[in-house]
Amino acid sequence: KEIKSGKVSWQAPSNIALVKYWGKKEHQIPANPSISFTLNHCRSTTSLEFQKKEDKSDSFEFDFYFEDKPKQDFKPKIEKFFERIQEYCPYLNDYNFVIRSENSFPHSSGIASSASGMSALALCIMDLESQLDPEMSKEHFQRKASFLARLGSGSASRSIQGDLMIWGKHNEFESSSDLFAIRYEDELHKNFQNFQDTILLVDKGEKQVSSTVGHDLMHGHPFAEERFKQAHENLSKLIPALKSGDYSEFIKIVESEALTLHAMMMSSHPYFILMKPNTLEIINKIWKFREDTGIPACFTLDAGANVHLLYPEDHASKVLEFIKNELVAYCENGHYICDQVGNGAKKL
Ligand code: PMV
Repeated sequence: KEIKSGKVSWQAPSNIALVKYWGKKEHQIPANPSISFTLNHCRSTTSLEFQKKEDKSDSFEFDFYFEDKPKQDFKPKIEKFFERIQEYCPYLNDYNFVIRSENSFPHSSGIASSASGMSALALCIMDLESQLDPEMSKEHFQRKASFLARLGSGSASRSIQGDLMIWGKHNEFESSSDLFAIRYEDELHKNFQNFQDTILLVDKGEKQVSSTVGHDLMHGHPFAEERFKQAHENLSKLIPALKSGDYSEFIKIVESEALTLHAMMMSSHPYFILMKPNTLEIINKIWKFREDTGIPACFTLDAGANVHLLYPEDHASKVLEFIKNELVAYCENGHYICDQVGNGAKKL
C-alpha cells in the first residue's frame, strides 16, 4: 500500500526486572533470560511524523524533539537504533521523520527512559509498517515491536505488553526467545495483581557508568557463567512463587537478584558502585519494617541508586505511611514516584 505522509503516537511504560538482564552477546542477545513487571504510570509518549521523500536516493534524515525542544544528545542513540533496524524495516529509507517524545516522570529522576522511550518509538515504526501491510496480525505486530525495541535497548523489549514479560530463551517457556519478549500467559495470582512499586529517588543524577558499559564488563567477568546459570534457576523458582502467590519465595529471589546485579558491578574490572549510602539505609529500613509488621514488602534495584519498593496493594496505606515517616528522609528532595503493575503500551 502507498502511504505518503502521516503521524502516529504511542505511549509505552517503563518496566522493573525481577530477574535481571545483565550481560549480552552481539546483536543485543541477552546472556540470560529476564522477567519484569510492566509499570503503569512511568511512561514515554512518542509521536512519529513521516513524509515520503521526493527522491529516494536522498540520505535518511530525522528530527528529534524531547519535550518540544530539539535534543541533540539523544540523537546518536536513535541514529544507531535506525541503523540497526534498517535491514528489518527497509521502507524506512523512503521517508523523512520527525520524532517527538516526552516522559510522564521527571527527566532527571535517575529513572532510565530508554525502556519506555525505545519501545514507544518501536511501536510507532510498527504502526507505519502495519499501515503499509494492513494484513499484519496483532501477534506479529507485538512481536516485531518487541524485536525492534530490543535493538534500541534490551530491556525495552519487555515494555510492549503487561503485566509480566519474559525476554530470553528459557527451557520452561517454549515460545520464549532471545529476539523478543513474550507475555507470561497465565493470569497473575491475586497476591501479585495491582502490585505496587514505589520508586524512592535516592539520586536523580546521571549514573556514572552506563548500562552499555556495564553489560560489556560481563565479558571476561570472573563470575559471569555462574551468574547466567543462576538467572535461569531463579526464573524457574520465581514462576511457581508467582503462580501460588508465595510472597516469601518471591522476596527471596527478587532481593537476591537486585543485590547480585550490584555484586556483578562491584566485582567487574574495572569495578564500580552505583548504590549510595542512602540506598543501603533504605534497604535496612525495609528489612526492619518487614520484620516488625509481617507485611511482604521488598526492594529491587536497577542499574542505579534508586530503590524500588514492591508491595501488595492491600497494604498500601501502611506502607505509604512508613515511606513518609521513615524513607522520605533518604530521598533526594524527598521525592518518590508511586507506580504499580500495568497492562502495557497503548496507541493514542
Ligand atoms: O536495557 P539496558 O541495556 O539499559 O539494560 C538494563 C539492565 C537492567 O535494568 C539493570 C536490568 C533489567 O533487566 O532491566
